[in-house]
Amino acid sequence: MAGKIPRAFIEDLVARIDLVDLIDARIPLKRSGANYSARCPFHSEKTPSFSVSREKQFYHCFGCGAHGNAINFLMEYDRLSFVEAVEWLADSAGLSVPVESEGRGVRQEEQGPALQGLYEVQEKAARFYAAQLRAHPGGERAVAYLKERGLEGETARRFLVGYAPPGWRSLPENLGSPEQLLAAGLAIRNEQGGIYDRFRDRIMFPIRDRRGRVIAFGGRVLGEGTPKYLNSPETAVFVKHRELYGLHELLAALRKPERILVAEGYMDVISLAQAGVINAVATLGTATSAEHVKTLFRFCREVIFCFDGDRAGHSAAWKALDASLPAMREGRSVRFLMLPDGQDPDSLVQAEGKAEFERRMDAAAPLSDYFFAQLAERHELGAMEGRAALIGEAKPLLEKLPESVYRDMMYERLGDLAGRSQVPIGSKSTKLERKPGLGRTERTRPSALRVLVALLLQRPSLVSQIDDPARTSLVRLEKGGTLISKLLALINEKPDITAGGIVERFRGDAEENQVKALLVWDAMIPPEGVEAEFGDALRKVLKQEQKDRLDALLSKVEQTKLSAEELEEMKALLADR
Ligand code: UTP
Ligand code: MN
Repeated sequence: MAGKIPRAFIEDLVARIDLVDLIDARIPLKRSGANYSARCPFHSEKTPSFSVSREKQFYHCFGCGAHGNAINFLMEYDRLSFVEAVEWLADSAGLSVPVESEGRGVRQEEQGPALQGLYEVQEKAARFYAAQLRAHPGGERAVAYLKERGLEGETARRFLVGYAPPGWRSLPENLGSPEQLLAAGLAIRNEQGGIYDRFRDRIMFPIRDRRGRVIAFGGRVLGEGTPKYLNSPETAVFVKHRELYGLHELLAALRKPERILVAEGYMDVISLAQAGVINAVATLGTATSAEHVKTLFRFCREVIFCFDGDRAGHSAAWKALDASLPAMREGRSVRFLMLPDGQDPDSLVQAEGKAEFERRMDAAAPLSDYFFAQLAERHELGAMEGRAALIGEAKPLLEKLPESVYRDMMYERLGDLAGRSQVPIGSKSTKLERKPGLGRTERTRPSALRVLVALLLQRPSLVSQIDDPARTSLVRLEKGGTLISKLLALINEKPDITAGGIVERFRGDAEENQVKALLVWDAMIPPEGVEAEFGDALRKVLKQEQKDRLDALLSKVEQTKLSAEELEEMKALLADR
């Protein structure tokens, strides 16, 4: 991506999301006093020293010193670059990242006009197809087919289900812009150089991206016929192994799903939603990818893969398992729901209803159980050769797990199954390095100024105790430094800013490390005592400033003549002493 992301956008983003929710979706947090805590994800420990503050929108580990705001967390935990972390946050807030291109101000979209046109034509086509379901004479057959499959009108509207008429030129005639239709994969060029519709006489399922933009279609024949489903080709905006059908609709209905079910087909998602199981998505006729899994774990802690219990289903489940391994961490769970032969979620939920289907979800096998059950089935455990083959197959897979207690336990279980007391763990080390320096608590008595700035950072609303003369003194006290000046200006500009927001403003500035160090520094003041302590520190600091000022004036008066103003000031200071 060229250009720069505007600072204001990033700051708004940080202000908009909740760090506690963000972290809790990855590692379960427990309330502890005013904060939330967990075992630190950045170093291994037995007792929790990782703390997240909702008020401050800041996290800090007292053990290893890791700390920061939402962007830092995503960078460290999800191993994202700064720009990726910003994009991730924008994405989950449903926003596009604007870009400042040098000299030309802010462009609305990160994409060029070509992509913009691509989204537009897809959206127009989706509206067109949806209208045809009601307007086109052939639409009656389509509606009858959907009714026969049990689909209700409201569900069809929610997923914008449509109908592509039988002719060859519906889109060119109704939407125009042949180049865009071609680029979007909605039309195909014939040998004479003209274009014709890709989708004809099919039920149309628009595929949306996370932000709700239509990026492709799946088209199903009415009844029998091949291919049963015809899908849009991949384009600049449609990459199959990244997208999940129904994810936008799911998140629109359920901001924080506890678990997400991954099915195989469009109709599964739609039918489940209609039955009230709204937390389902589907892959798009491709195997589950590691990218799919990563995306899913952005939004929930538990993913349930659902497949037909036949041979093909188990082979697909194994691929999903493989793709899930790199994402497995404590607090995350992947489970497998294998359905009775020949059934899919659509047929099953229509036959049994929501409650029974959800009971199946509850009973789905944890990844570990599924993994070892499959291995045990494939290998002859009675023979040494079989047990060796078992280890041979399992080890490269387990090596994909990030280093964790979970991984250790999986190796132990492999050892049990293979009748060996120990299977040597793969050498791959993913241990995070300890951050040096920052965040170590100081033992020496802190200066009043340090307390003052630290508390102000931690609770910006304390600024109300600083009146104008005090502000002037503080800035003067800084003697050419800029932290206090910048901080006061920032809080003035954004009275609701949190510590996390302040950190964002200082990112890359000379004061960044100072800000962070003060933020993680624990002044050991109970929350209810903070205001009084701040007032006390402020008085001390101002007193000191007055004293310094008076000293300066007194020594000046010995050497030269003071101006009238300086004399005034000296008198006032002397009187105040
Ligand atoms: P299924 O064959 O299981 O179909 O394909 P389904 O979803 O149960 O469809 P219905 O119930 O018969 O309408 C699962 C998914 O695989 C992809 C589609 O994404 C489909 O939803 N698929 C299947 C294709 O892309 N092309 C095909 O020809 C078949
Ligand atoms: Mn089906």
